[in-house]
Amino acid sequence: MRVLSVTCLLLCVSVHTAHSAVLNQSLTEGNNTFLYCENDGKVIWDKGLDEGRSSILTAEHGDITVKHRPDPDHRYSVLSDLSLLIKRVSPSDSGIYFCNTVPVVNLTVTPLKAVLNQSLTEGNNTFLYCENDGKVIWDKGVDEGRSSILTAEHGDITVKHRPDPDHRYSVLSDLSLLIKRVSPSDSGIYFCNTVPVVNLTVTPLKGGSMIFISILVPATVVVLVFPLFLWKCFFQNKTVKDRNNDQVYESVHEVTVTACENLYEPIYVLAGDPAIINQAQKTHPVSSASSETPRYQIIQKIQKDT
Ligand SMILES: *[C@@H]1O[C@H](CO)[C@@H](O)[C@H](O)[C@H]1NC(C)=O
Ligand SMILES: *[C@@H]1O[C@H](CO)[C@@H](O)[C@H](O)[C@H]1NC(C)=O
Ligand SMILES: *[C@@H]1O[C@H](CO)[C@@H](O)[C@H](O)[C@H]1NC(C)=O
Ligand SMILES: *[C@@H]1O[C@H](CO)[C@@H](O)[C@H](O)[C@H]1NC(C)=O
Ligand SMILES: *[C@@H]1O[C@H](CO)[C@@H](O)[C@H](O)[C@H]1NC(C)=O
Ligand SMILES: *[C@@H]1O[C@H](CO)[C@@H](O)[C@H](O)[C@H]1NC(C)=O
Repeated sequence: MRVLSVTCLLLCVSVHTAHSAVLNQSLTEGNNTFLYCENDGKVIWDKGLDEGRSSILTAEHGDITVKHRPDPDHRYSVLSDLSLLIKRVSPSDSGIYFCNTVPVVNLTVTPLKAVLNQSLTEGNNTFLYCENDGKVIWDKGVDEGRSSILTAEHGDITVKHRPDPDHRYSVLSDLSLLIKRVSPSDSGIYFCNTVPVVNLTVTPLKGGSMIFISILVPATVVVLVFPLFLWKCFFQNKTVKDRNNDQVYESVHEVTVTACENLYEPIYVLAGDPAIINQAQKTHPVSSASSETPRYQIIQKIQKDT
C-alpha cells in the first residue's frame, strides 16, 4: 500500500512537474513527508514566500552540500534521490516548494487540534463546535472508522445520513452539532470534516438515580411520614388519655357513688339506729348461742355487699 502510494506520488509529481502543475499535499501537524523532484544529480530546494523564494538547502549526489537556513531540530534532510524529507511538519511549513526553481508541491499542514474532552450526564443537551467554511460533515467515530451523522451547509442540514426518529440531531447557525437528550451510546469521538473535535463521554443517569432513590425516598419517608406518624400517635394518645380520664372519672364517680350508697346506710346502721339493728337481726336471725354481736353481723353484711 505504502509502496503503491509512493509510486503514485512519484508518478503524480513527475506528471505534474512535467506540466508545471503543483501537487497539493495535505498533512496533519507532526507528520513526516518527502517531496520528490526529478533531477540530474543536483537540487536546490526552495520554499515559496510571499516575497518570492527562500532557499532551504542544496544537495548533490545524494547528500546535502549547503543548508541555507538554520535547522536546529534537524528536520530537513534528503533521500538518495535528493527528495526533500521534512520531519515533524508544522503549519508554518505550509507553502509551495520549488525544486530547481520549479514549483512541485503545495503543502498544507493542518494544526493538530487537541480533541476536546466533554463529559455529560445522560439526558443533557450539548453542542459541538467546529471551525468551517460554511459546509460541515459531522461523523461519529465507530470501531471500524467513522459513521456520518449529517451534512450541513450555510446554517442548515442538507442530508441526514442516519435515521433520527427522535429529532435529536440538529445544527446551529454556525453548523455546530446540537445533540439533545444524550445517552451513553452517544459517547465517542465526533469528527467535523474528518477532523476529530470532541471526545464525548456520557455517564448514565442510572447511578445517579440509584443514589437519588436510596437517599431521597427514605428522606421523603422521614420528612412526610414521620411527622404524620407523630401527629397520629399524639392524637391517639390524647383521645385514649381523654377516654381514660373519662372512664377513670366515671369509674371513680360510680365507685364513690355506689360505695357511698352502700356505705352510708350501714354506717348509719353502725351508728346504732335500734330499729334497723332490730330489722337486721330479724332478716339475719342469729342463734342465741352465738356470741356474735349484731354489730359484727352488720359489718359482715357490709363486707358482703361491697
Ligand atoms: C491544488 O489546489 C488548488 C486550490 O486548492 C487547485 O486549484 C488545484 O487544481 C489543485 N491542484 C491539483 C493538482 O490538484
Ligand atoms: C499522520 O501521523 C499519524 C500518526 O502520528 C498517522 O496516524 C496519520 O495517518 C498520518 N497522516 C498522514 C497523512 O500521513
Ligand atoms: C495551495 O494550497 C492552498 C490550500 O489548499 C490553496 O489555498 C492555494 O491556492 C494553493 N496554491 C496553489 C498555487 O495551488
Ligand atoms: C482528553 O482525555 C484523554 C484521555 O482521557 C487525554 O489523554 C487528553 O489529554 C484529554 N484532552 C484534553 C484536551 O484535555
Ligand atoms: C445536566 O442537566 C441538569 C438538569 O437537567 C443540569 O442541572 C446540569 O447542570 C446539566 N449538566 C451539564 C453538564 O450540562
Ligand atoms: C475519550 O474519552 C474516554 C473517556 O474519558 C477515554 O477513555 C479515551 O481515551 C478518550 N479518547 C481520546 C481519543 O481522547
